[in-house]
Amino acid sequence: MTTPGQPPNSVAAGASRGRGGSSTEGERTSDVREPRSADPTKASADPEVTYRLAVVPGDGIGPEVIAGGRRVLEAAGRLFGFRFEWHKVLIGGVAMDAYGVPMRDEDLAACAAADAVYFGAIGDPKYDDPKAKVRPEQALLAMRKGLGLYANLRPVTVQPVLRGSSPVRESLLEGVDMLIVRELTGGLYFGKPSEQRDTPAGREVVDTLIYTEGEIRRVVKLAFELARGRRKKLTSVDKANVLSSSRLWRTIVEEVKPEYPDVTVEHRLVDACAMTLIQRPALFDVIVTENLFGDILSDEASVLAGSLGMLPSASIGEKRTPFGVHGLYEPIHGSAPDIAGKDVANPLATILSGAMMLRWSLGRPAVAEAIEAAVGAALADGYRTPDLVAATGEQPGQKKVGTQAMADAVVTALEAGASQKAGAGGPGERAGAR
Ligand code: IPM
Ligand code: MG
Repeated sequence: MTTPGQPPNSVAAGASRGRGGSSTEGERTSDVREPRSADPTKASADPEVTYRLAVVPGDGIGPEVIAGGRRVLEAAGRLFGFRFEWHKVLIGGVAMDAYGVPMRDEDLAACAAADAVYFGAIGDPKYDDPKAKVRPEQALLAMRKGLGLYANLRPVTVQPVLRGSSPVRESLLEGVDMLIVRELTGGLYFGKPSEQRDTPAGREVVDTLIYTEGEIRRVVKLAFELARGRRKKLTSVDKANVLSSSRLWRTIVEEVKPEYPDVTVEHRLVDACAMTLIQRPALFDVIVTENLFGDILSDEASVLAGSLGMLPSASIGEKRTPFGVHGLYEPIHGSAPDIAGKDVANPLATILSGAMMLRWSLGRPAVAEAIEAAVGAALADGYRTPDLVAATGEQPGQKKVGTQAMADAVVTALEAGASQKAGAGGPGERAGAR
């Protein structure tokens, strides 16, 4: 199984190590190279480094899952020899409560200035009025746009011990390992006009699906790069039998294809793809698609993993930091207000998002792998949050735990894995390297 969301080639090669080095901001994504744990550059990781993170707990269960994720990241820092400086930022419903706006300019600037953004969830039912002009979710969209995060990477893998948790038959889940690359700053989410109007014939509404060819090409190229580092298969999803935007999308995929002769490309219509995703999920490697289709398909795909609480994501763009690409890391689940504050939310998607942050933005792929392995180990030890128990019913050997205890189980597994590795004498980033 490939590691979730492997970065494209770029990150380590383009970026000098350490804060003093020159950043390669604005470099094209297609020039990049994949940081893997075997990379020799990783062996020289500066043990003294402090990563500056903007942390956005947000609304609902956001603060709880972020607290769990931070505990795991802090533990990783202790074990592998680096530190974090956390800059807490209020965005979303909590910012509307505190400042009257979902996001202040200075808070967006703080996110832009950090090495990466660690994000919980946004959305509060008290601001759900469909007539409201200002909604918490606008901050998330403004942040994606403002930080230039045009690509959202949503890896979908199924933990072996959770195969029974999915409503999809276990035999179909064998070999499921896909990466959904969702375009994130264009399409219907941002097109203007987007409004309701009063006309003599009654109310009418309009949303605009608009893409420039540049917007399509950059995300398609990134997806090709990512496919190249995986099983070399790219599925482009569109609705070209109906939409002009999809016909240009498809044309551009065909135009880019000759640059990647080693990658097999297929086009699927989104409706048929939605069906195949459940019928034969193991067929897919990298999926690239426009914003709304990607939003829908990634929630659908999460069913394969047994719970929405398992899926992490990375949103990245062209901006570089001293250690990798600048990015925002968040679980794909929402704020789940119904279970907020009860210590029952599953923190694993947030913990796995932290691993993606280490891989993509902080130049620490081996630590990312260690955290991913620790998540697998905690699950194999029987630890289950209520969402995972609900999926299978209680079973012998399961230990039903809350949010923080699940994070602790991952920390324990991380410590155990690190001390084993140190004993075996692994490469560069191992615990005990200093
Ligand atoms: C997601 C969410 C967001 C989106 C919402 C909260 C605006 O569903 O990240 O998938 O639609 O992009
Ligand atoms: Mg969504």
